[in-house]
Amino acid sequence: MKTAVAYYSLGGTTRSYARAEAKARNADLIELTPKTPYNRFTAFVRGCLEAVKQKAVALDGMPLFVGYDRVVLMAPVWAGYPAPPFNSAVELLPPGTEVEVILVSGSGNSEKSRAKVRLQIKKRGCTLTAQRDIRASR
Ligand SMILES: Cc1cc2nc3c(=O)[nH]c(=O)nc-3n(C[C@H](O)[C@H](O)[C@H](O)COP(=O)(O)O)c2cc1C
Repeated sequence: MKTAVAYYSLGGTTRSYARAEAKARNADLIELTPKTPYNRFTAFVRGCLEAVKQKAVALDGMPLFVGYDRVVLMAPVWAGYPAPPFNSAVELLPPGTEVEVILVSGSGNSEKSRAKVRLQIKKRGCTLTAQRDIRASR
């Protein structure tokens, strides 16, 4: 099964988990880079609003998920929702792809946002096979 691990990370925590995940699965590692990068400030004032609205932002380059049987999407949780580059990646998934979602947060994730992510993947015509939350203490 050909697998890609696609991730966004602002502070590096999700990157570490994504690297480990890709290594363990022998998967390709794809970094999602927003065209307009976030910093701590813009992440809070702009990114959180975009995250809550499940808004996609323009990415630098076009990650191609064609040819993968499974894509593992990883992102930090911002204001309870996946950081916006996660949404951009979902929009690029070929329908029919098996998807796993792994979100990294400081204090966990709500069931409401988990349900919204499930719906988002379903609307894309993809199958969510696993949904995991990592509580990262730093
Ligand atoms: C803008 C912003 C919003 C955040 N919102 C939440 C939140 O709602 N709930 C939570 O548990 N952690 C929240 N966090 C913490 C991050 O999810 C957590 O530190 C994560 O590990 C960061 O991953 P990264 O280092 O890959 O960017 C937030 C962090 C940032 C920068």
